[in-house]
Amino acid sequence: MTFETILLDKQEGVGLITLNRPDALNALNSKLLEELGEALLALDADADIGAIVVTGSEKAFAAGADIKEMSGLSFADVLKKDMFAEINSVFARVRKPVIAAVSGYALGGGCEIAMACDFIIAAESAKFGQPEIKLGVIPGIGGSQRLTRLVGKSKAMDMMLTGRMMDSAEAERSGLVSRVLPTEDMLDGAMEVASSIADLSAPSVALAKEATNRALETTLAEGLLFERRAFHSLFATEDQKEGMSAFIEKRQPQFKNC
Ligand code: HXC
Repeated sequence: MTFETILLDKQEGVGLITLNRPDALNALNSKLLEELGEALLALDADADIGAIVVTGSEKAFAAGADIKEMSGLSFADVLKKDMFAEINSVFARVRKPVIAAVSGYALGGGCEIAMACDFIIAAESAKFGQPEIKLGVIPGIGGSQRLTRLVGKSKAMDMMLTGRMMDSAEAERSGLVSRVLPTEDMLDGAMEVASSIADLSAPSVALAKEATNRALETTLAEGLLFERRAFHSLFATEDQKEGMSAFIEKRQPQFKNC
């Protein structure tokens, strides 16, 4: 596959997608969003891949949706193309874990793409924000919904109504990111985390992702039932036998993803 606006690489069971519009701080134009969606679906379907990392450059994960591309559009234009619906639906379809590895600016749509991933590993240099309010719009790729679920109403309102940026320490304190690493080590660290997930049993990884996402969509009783049934179903896998035997025999498990 060849792309204009992203780079795609595979290393030790991990698919690495690098947003690559350096002249525009990786601003998300329609080509980039289309290519990001294609790459995510291709890696999700690739039997050699167990986890996916999405990253940008050291200066910017992405500085938002492409303001120059959007500026002249009318209400009818954006409604007709249902702007940004497709990338959200791609993220909803991807069943493998997706980690956002964020260095520098993750603003507007950049912050939203990071939050659409399953979790965020940030460099100390990372800066998150939803500055759309300063452009006369609001978030459109899920910011008002995902940021509020991640950091709570008070901080989400603060971020969305002022458009201010949050540094990596505040982002970790607030629950927006799962870990912060030194900037120069961040991508290697995120790749190591992804590779360690790719080494696990794929059916249990997929069900852990589904069960965790279910917590955001349903009641506690329904979520507990979903989790229990998913847990029960994993006793039908060879990997459950292997994982538990390996523990008892004090050796590393050899998972076969079945
Ligand atoms: C298009 C962008 C861009 C963007 C930066 N660039 N962000 N182009 N869309 N979102 C371009 C600049 O125009 C410039 O190109 C080049 O990238 C470098 O940017 P500079 O501004 O010169 O860099 P710097 O001074 O370091 O400032 C970095 C920055 C600033 C603080 C991140 O670029 C910035 O504020 N960007 C916009 C952030 C933003 O508002 N994001 C939200 C977008 S709306 P040239 O050719 O001039 O050199 C959004 C909506 C989502 O995401 C969905 C709802 C509608």
